[in-house]
Amino acid sequence: MEQSVAVEWSDVSVVLGGRTVLDRFNLSVTGGSWLVVIGPNGAGKTSLMRTLAGTVGHTGTIRIGGDETGGVQSAERARRLAVVPQHPVIPPGMNVFDYALLGRSPHQGLRFSPSERDRRQTAEVLHRLELGGFTARNLDTLSGGERQRVVVARALVQDTPILVLDEPTSFLDLGHQLEVLELIADLRTERSLTVISTLHDLATAGQFADRMAVLDGGRLVIHGTPAEVMTPGIIARHWGVHADTDVDADGSVTVTVRRRQQA
Ligand SMILES: Nc1ncnc2c1ncn2[C@@H]1O[C@H](COP(=O)(O)OP(=O)(O)OP(=O)(O)O)[C@@H](O)[C@H]1O
Ligand SMILES: [Mg+2]
Repeated sequence: MEQSVAVEWSDVSVVLGGRTVLDRFNLSVTGGSWLVVIGPNGAGKTSLMRTLAGTVGHTGTIRIGGDETGGVQSAERARRLAVVPQHPVIPPGMNVFDYALLGRSPHQGLRFSPSERDRRQTAEVLHRLELGGFTARNLDTLSGGERQRVVVARALVQDTPILVLDEPTSFLDLGHQLEVLELIADLRTERSLTVISTLHDLATAGQFADRMAVLDGGRLVIHGTPAEVMTPGIIARHWGVHADTDVDADGSVTVTVRRRQQA
């Protein structure tokens, strides 16, 4: 596995509406690893992902693939990393295939004229996400979960070394949640992808991550392996719930959250 640094945040802060929502964040992500960022609502996870997408202003420095983002043009950034936002903006009236095909546009010049290979790659990803039967459907007519899978498909079509996913499974049923996460895990192995994601579901987060980070109140409170991070103490402190954790031989952690005692 590649051991280079894929992404590095140094003293990165984000201020929104006069509030510091990300406070001097420092972390580096090794090439080929999967970092899962967790934290309660409002912790700053989306803001952190947006610093990579380049859709929010920040202080401090971010390096993507060795270069400071300040010196990287947006088309070049889109060749290095693909982003699945928590709330994607979907162009109205577009069909599934054409939307996913847009993932190829950063690989082209100013005018986007997709090749046969671009179309084939797009069809392949849609097929792997079981969206082959949806290609001609208008995006406006899809269910929340179907649409979310199409947005993931578009990011995979972009075929970048780094994939950034902000709550990619929030609208998905259990089966599709695992399907999307397992597909990303497979692609990660096939293409030595670096994956940086947020995931709300503590039960699955520790099964896919190889590094985890907890954000709370805009601050990084702990990072390390799933076994180091996903402890009942940390979960109680930052989520206020009781949890049992189970560490498997491969280091993955399964979390079971228990209902609070009834009076
Ligand atoms: N444009 C804005 N103006 C003011 N505050 C903002 C703005 N955007 C986000 N915030 C605040 O920044 C904080 C961090 O938001 P962020 O979306 O990064 O949290 P999050 O960890 O992704 O939460 P969630 O789990 O709900 O997705 C929140 O308190 C949010 O209300
Ligand atoms: Mg968020």
